Amino acid sequence: METESGLWVTLLVGAVPFLGFILWWWNDLRYALPIISLDRSPGGGKLPPGYMGLPFLGEMPAFLWYFKFLRRPDDYINSKRLRYGDGEGLYRTHLFGSPSIIAFSPSANKFVLQNEASFFLEWPSVELVGSTSLVAVEGSSHTRVRSLVIRAINQPDALCRIAIMVQPRIIAALNLWAQKGRITLYKEAKKVTFANIGKYFASFEPGTVLDTLDDLFKGLTDGFRAQPINFPGTAYHRALQCRKKATGVFREEMERRKESDASNAKHDLMEGLMQMKDEDGKQLSDVEVLDNIVSLVVAGYTSTSLAIMWAFYYLAKCPHVLERLREEHVPIAKRINGEFITYKDITTCKYTTKVVEEIIRLANIASIIFRTAKEDVKYKGYKIPKGWKVVCWARYLHTNPENFDDPMCFNPERWNEPPKPGTYLVFGGGTRICAGNMLARLQVAILLHHLVVGYRWKLVNPDAGMTYLPHPKPVDEVEVSISKL
Ligand code: HEM
Repeated sequence: METESGLWVTLLVGAVPFLGFILWWWNDLRYALPIISLDRSPGGGKLPPGYMGLPFLGEMPAFLWYFKFLRRPDDYINSKRLRYGDGEGLYRTHLFGSPSIIAFSPSANKFVLQNEASFFLEWPSVELVGSTSLVAVEGSSHTRVRSLVIRAINQPDALCRIAIMVQPRIIAALNLWAQKGRITLYKEAKKVTFANIGKYFASFEPGTVLDTLDDLFKGLTDGFRAQPINFPGTAYHRALQCRKKATGVFREEMERRKESDASNAKHDLMEGLMQMKDEDGKQLSDVEVLDNIVSLVVAGYTSTSLAIMWAFYYLAKCPHVLERLREEHVPIAKRINGEFITYKDITTCKYTTKVVEEIIRLANIASIIFRTAKEDVKYKGYKIPKGWKVVCWARYLHTNPENFDDPMCFNPERWNEPPKPGTYLVFGGGTRICAGNMLARLQVAILLHHLVVGYRWKLVNPDAGMTYLPHPKPVDEVEVSISKL
């Protein structure tokens, strides 16, 4: 009897650590070991250093620990640098359900983002973004659609038009906020951004159609964070329904335009996309126009709202920057005397350009950018296996003191010099660099003009903590008290 229980104790004492070992190394054994042991070519199966985590969960607990619990997101990479060193700027891991390679150095990020032949942008749910939209197409189709979209929203003649179109709503919003006296900026910035999107995308005026669209886009955006399970009751199912209905609203508008007189043409994105011809004289199909409008709303809505929210936040924290901005904008306001500021005026505002860049750098709206390896890829002696995700850790580049002096300090003066090559990826890089980057900058600059010449504001909770998921923002979403100067 005694020997039997002794046997059990021995088994248990041996089995528990063994099981623990297997669980701890599960993903490394499952994904990394076969690659390391089966690829016999010289140096062939060498994977970047790292740890791939527990079954199913991978390294998500560590990721959430740093991003959600400690709220020190950059220490996720710092902890790895301490353990594995810098190496070639790559680690292996398992995040968001996939075996992954993290790229955290400027050169590794450049290698991935500029190498469309080996890495592609894979959407878990192409049906949500639309299969013919710019973000979903590749190769020559991507080049073609991209050049048309950029002409419609990101080039000087489009920006000149949009600069005028967005101002009535920005001016009205600021007025209303001052009347309210106390507002939550993220919420309000979303309203004004969406009203402007409605205007310069499809000439929609505020009203029921726009409110319906706003609700539909909220539902659609929720779907991007949900498991892609299309079953009634799931967030993903709802998102698909919302997408269908939102497309329906734009389709109706498109049909109306086709039937109406050419003299009624509106100078907005929809008209641009309907009329433009590519190099071969070919126009976009109806589905392409609609897919692209919907995905552009998704790409521009939250990102621009967050940038506006951060503009208020940083300027409230840095009165000396606000003062210098006023010095730049008050003379312009006097000169234009109640007229709208133009795109050309904005391009002459050198200090504003630096402030906008610094807001966008520190806001880190797109902290990470995903790619998938199309094939086995070699980088500086390491293998990036086919099918693995590559997580380009843009945020880390912008918050690393090796790239930006005193990186967490809001300092527009740093833009007196260009950033070190490869260290600035707020808008991504390579052929998929943000198609609305100039538009986003312009909208923030226009807001700054009207804000600094006409208003004073204070943070209600200057010491509010930060959340980092899904985007960095103060927990109070920037509550301010605001009044006219
Ligand atoms: C501050 C605001 C913005 C930030 C930080 C931002 C950031 C980014 C980033 C990082 C990418 C690259 C994604 C990747 O490579 O996977 C991207 C792509 C894109 N962005 Fe933006 N964006 C902003 C505003 C906008 C606006 C206002 C629009 C248009 C209305 C827009 C449209 C797009 C499109 C269409 C793409 C895909 C380009 C392609 O695949 O060729 N973005 N953006």
